[in-house]
Amino acid sequence: MIIGIPRERKVHEYRVSLTPQAVRVLVERGHQVLVERGAGSGSGIKDEEFSKAGARLVDSEESLFDGAELIVKVKEPISEEFPLIRSNHIIFSYLHLAANRELLEVLRKSGVRAIAFETIELPDGSLPLLAPMSRIAGRLSVQVGMHYLEKPQGGKGVLLGGAPGVKPGKVTVIGGGTVGYNAVITALGLGAEVTVIDKNPKKLEFFHERFSGSVKTLPSYPEFVEGEVKGSDLVIGAVLVTGARAPKVITRNMVSGMEPGSVFVDVAIDQGGCSETSHPTTLDSPVFVVDGVIHYCVTNIPSLVPRTATHALSNAILPYVLKIASGDYENDESIKKGINVDRGEVLLKLD
Ligand SMILES: NC(=O)c1ccc[n+]([C@@H]2O[C@H](COP(=O)([O-])OP(=O)(O)OC[C@H]3O[C@@H](n4cnc5c(N)ncnc54)[C@H](O)[C@@H]3O)[C@@H](O)[C@H]2O)c1
Repeated sequence: MIIGIPRERKVHEYRVSLTPQAVRVLVERGHQVLVERGAGSGSGIKDEEFSKAGARLVDSEESLFDGAELIVKVKEPISEEFPLIRSNHIIFSYLHLAANRELLEVLRKSGVRAIAFETIELPDGSLPLLAPMSRIAGRLSVQVGMHYLEKPQGGKGVLLGGAPGVKPGKVTVIGGGTVGYNAVITALGLGAEVTVIDKNPKKLEFFHERFSGSVKTLPSYPEFVEGEVKGSDLVIGAVLVTGARAPKVITRNMVSGMEPGSVFVDVAIDQGGCSETSHPTTLDSPVFVVDGVIHYCVTNIPSLVPRTATHALSNAILPYVLKIASGDYENDESIKKGINVDRGEVLLKLD
């Protein structure tokens, strides 16, 4: 199959979908790989590394889409890329279509097969192509939250770890999955006081046992969410219902109950965000303020660290790219869950 790796067009998106090491594996399996010039530069990968691995470099995204059958991207296509999509393509990337009906319609009308990284699901319900970026975003959520808590950034001026004789900052993580777990270990590592809220009792059991009770665990009742959010310096939104729009677990009232200068990092923003007050932002202009609370709602947080994130992503997706490129995946239940739009039909369950 002819596989195309474009340069990402989203604002400050520095990742590339596959590394030269992965490209070499694809070429050795008999596939042709086209790489748009400059695709790896944001991740510190030179064009020559791709050509040495056996890829053919192309000068424009137009010629890449014209020449390739399987387009492997990081982020969803943006409007300037819509006209490039052809009915013979398979698009394999993050898509987050429940929060992007415009793209859903474009994909439906174009007649492509669109396979979303984030809905590929293993039999145990885990999400093998979302998890690597969720690990990174979870850790970064605390790092960026800490930054915006600094006074010159408009934050209230709190060090999450506190100081001898001074109480630590309070962090509440809503959703104890992959993002949540990585946010919790980062916040605990800094010495913060941490609460995790999840609707799944098994998750609460896990956190309680894993951290010997040093993390407060609560079920996701609105009054508990309100109580914790109100007293927090930093709130991390990390809920997910696979494939669906994020549930709005945080209301405007809860946000206005927080102290001015507190910070809310809504990692779940790619699925529409888990607060009534959230809207997507970019790495160019990552924050906005509602009722004195700084909101960080960037949809591509791992792009802050592309040299790490690109390799983690490429390692995870390569086995799936190989399977899709072989054409023999019609009976693969995990990949089937990833097919969101297929030749004019929307397969993603929408609310
Ligand atoms: N912004 C970014 O750059 C970025 C990067 C990576 C992941 N994400 C997003 O972060 C979100 C979380 O991803 P994940 O991999 O941790 O998912 P996950 O499936 O591992 O965890 C989600 C958790 O949310 C819980 N949950 C669902 N509904 C809830 C509710 N009403 N109240 C409380 N908990 C609830 C689930 O029980 C689960 O434990 C997703 O939307 C994902 O796409 C965003």
